[in-house]
Amino acid sequence: MNQKITAAITAIGGYVPENRLTNADLEKMVDTNDEWIRTRTGIVERRILNEPGKATSDLCAPAVLELCKKRGIHPSEIDCLIVGTVTQDMFFPSTANIVCDKVGAVNAWGFDLAAACSGFLFSLTTGVCLIESGRYKKVVVVGADKMSAITDYSDRTTCIIFGDGAGAVLLEPNFEGYGILDSILRTDGSGKHYLHMKAGGSLRPASYETVANKEHFIYQEGQAVFKFAVKGMADISAELLEKNNLTGKDIAWLVPHQANKRIIDATANRMGLSHDKVMVNIQRYGNTTSGTIPLCLWDWENQLKKGDNLVFAAFGGGFTWGATLVKWAY
Ligand code: UT7
Repeated sequence: MNQKITAAITAIGGYVPENRLTNADLEKMVDTNDEWIRTRTGIVERRILNEPGKATSDLCAPAVLELCKKRGIHPSEIDCLIVGTVTQDMFFPSTANIVCDKVGAVNAWGFDLAAACSGFLFSLTTGVCLIESGRYKKVVVVGADKMSAITDYSDRTTCIIFGDGAGAVLLEPNFEGYGILDSILRTDGSGKHYLHMKAGGSLRPASYETVANKEHFIYQEGQAVFKFAVKGMADISAELLEKNNLTGKDIAWLVPHQANKRIIDATANRMGLSHDKVMVNIQRYGNTTSGTIPLCLWDWENQLKKGDNLVFAAFGGGFTWGATLVKWAY
């Protein structure tokens, strides 16, 4: 019999640093206030990895170890590890390489995937294809960013949004139709002007000038990105439902990228979902870029039921955006 393989999430791990940066802390650093941040973004505090010598791989490693423990496997059983991130430890080797070494995934290969806030969704779909090919049995997909490394804490329009964190999922073959059922992913490079990091790449290698001009930090035209994000995330989520003959009533949970509570609300409204079906933890972690969706799964894992239909949705720099349909497997 020819059984169709789907890729199912079989375990979740997560990690956020202990150190909290509250709205009250930010009031002392830039001209802002708690009320503005709460009402314009929904954020109350974020976690910041401020220990010297620690990088994105140090967010990933505990998340990966946690999922291995939960699933009862040794890291040496992992076949492939993908890290969605735009804050790699270094240009090369890849963060995935470093994470494999830190956790003891000695039989794995891996790579980083840069798709900004859609990094987890793009990495997930890539991992799904590896499982569906029948060639790999255990693929770990991590979404992780140490956004504090590229945030200018004198720029009030960006420093209030971002935080550090990582979430990880284990993908394994499923033969009963559970797992990741569909994805629609998109990119539009003409959107790069609105959200990017100006220097440090081959276009503008690091120099005294780029450092003096603060070009190694996030550059974001917030209002423009906001408009694209509201439309992009809502449209693609609605398109995914329609393509699969589903309506909001069929969906147990929307798992949205946590960039701004107002973008999340717009997406939920467009899908016809009541707010108790939407995972929101932006108030506690801020925008952890690739980390947001798996960190929601980590926080809500106990409430998920086998057979639940979930929609993951994201929009980010690039522009990149997408939505994924999941039938929860445990
Ligand atoms: O993660 C993936 C991609 N990123 C996003 O999806 C982020 C999308 N953008 C946003 O979430 C919002 O645009 C921001 C949260 C970044 C900014 O919110 P906004 O409502 O779009 O603010 P704005 O830029 O339109 O500014 C409104 C006002 C301005 O004052 P005036 O000109 O009206 O007097 C700003 O100077 O708010 C002012 N402002 C602030 N006030 C207090 C901007 N930042 C702050 C601040 N505190 N931190």
